[in-house]
Amino acid sequence: MTDQAISSVTARRVWDSRGRPTVEVEVITAGGAMGRAIAPAGASRGTREAVDMRDGGTALAGLDVKGALTNVATLIAPKLAGMDVTDQAGVDQAILSLDPSPMKSTLGGNATVATSLAVMHAAAAAKGEAVWQHAAALSGQTPTLPLPEVQIFGGGAHAGQRVDIQDFMVMVPGAGSFDEVMEVTAEIYRAAGSIMQQRGALAGVADEGGWWPVFDHNEQALETLVQAIELAGETPGERVVISLDIAASEFGREGRYRLALENREMGREEMIGLLGKWLDTYPIASIEDPLAEDDTEGMRQFTQTFGDRVQIIGDDYLVTNAGILDQAIADQCCNAVLIKVNQIGTVTEALKCLRRAREAGYGTIVSARSGETEDVSISHMAVGFGAGQLKVGSFTRSERMAKWNECLRIADALPAGRYVAGQPLSQTAWARNWKGAA
Ligand code: PGA
Ligand code: ZN
Repeated sequence: MTDQAISSVTARRVWDSRGRPTVEVEVITAGGAMGRAIAPAGASRGTREAVDMRDGGTALAGLDVKGALTNVATLIAPKLAGMDVTDQAGVDQAILSLDPSPMKSTLGGNATVATSLAVMHAAAAAKGEAVWQHAAALSGQTPTLPLPEVQIFGGGAHAGQRVDIQDFMVMVPGAGSFDEVMEVTAEIYRAAGSIMQQRGALAGVADEGGWWPVFDHNEQALETLVQAIELAGETPGERVVISLDIAASEFGREGRYRLALENREMGREEMIGLLGKWLDTYPIASIEDPLAEDDTEGMRQFTQTFGDRVQIIGDDYLVTNAGILDQAIADQCCNAVLIKVNQIGTVTEALKCLRRAREAGYGTIVSARSGETEDVSISHMAVGFGAGQLKVGSFTRSERMAKWNECLRIADALPAGRYVAGQPLSQTAWARNWKGAA
């Protein structure tokens, strides 16, 4: 056995940011290198994404992961034993050979993603490299710091459906460094909190750490976000822009959309009209899942109408699946894809989707899930895959801050000049009009 041969793969039950059980995997090589990773978990999940294996029953609301742990121990570990840990594609192929089901339902996506990520970490350790360096070797890309997308107000499935829209975020494409993005974002986050406090509407935070959305209607969150940006001393639309995740699959089906907070039901044309009005009124540079995952016609219309002025991200709509992305490209739907490794189940398949997106000129955003942990794999992947953008949730709670802080450490290790600033948004006409753009 060479030093880089996998000698053991073990799994344990750990707990995520919602206090739910999840899978941690440790991979050790013959040479003694160790890598460890934890599966995240979504709440507003696409119907076509890899499924987590949960035990069911009454204990822990049916969410226990003992079956997934057993699958790692009895199926995955023996299969990977002796394989070269640096051969990520080979390892992921071996995992897939155990589970040819379309949604990883045999092994559980939680078992496969924790293993696949742990292999990436162990390979970096075996090579004596940082994880982002090894990720760059896997992708063939120049490591680059991503432009962060940071939630200020949570909503939708992350806030008990208090408002319908899921994420009200900011991006700071006009900042000159990752560190400057963090500082500007911290001021906006704090300003938003003080506005809510003054209104007597401060009620803690949602699942990803954004302020709890005590609003009378969905657009009020946008108005408040603009106020917060201004209170932080910024001019909305200059250095700072707004980004939304509508997560429309949560309230849209078969071309009908129901905003519960406003007791309003719309067809797809009216829904597109509403979003178009928001795009005209607020400095929104990016919008995710504006239509539901089953609404190809709506997504095509939306992309045709607004695709030249705003980034349109498919999350539930594309589920990090290269095949589904190919179809969306043919349908002329979306112009960017969210990359969540656990939506597809392995690092290699996520990378495949990211490559496809890049070939088609689509933007790429590496993303966390609403259920997260101290695991910082996505910071390393965003850099090493040269994704350009990173979405982690808000600017509080350590499962979020761990990812931002890891980027700051990577920033110090990268050669100077590897921050891309507003570049990922530069293909949109909106960004070309943006006063701060070079
Ligand atoms: P989820 O949602 O992790 O709860 O599925 C995050 C998102 O929609 O981006
Ligand atoms: Zn989303």
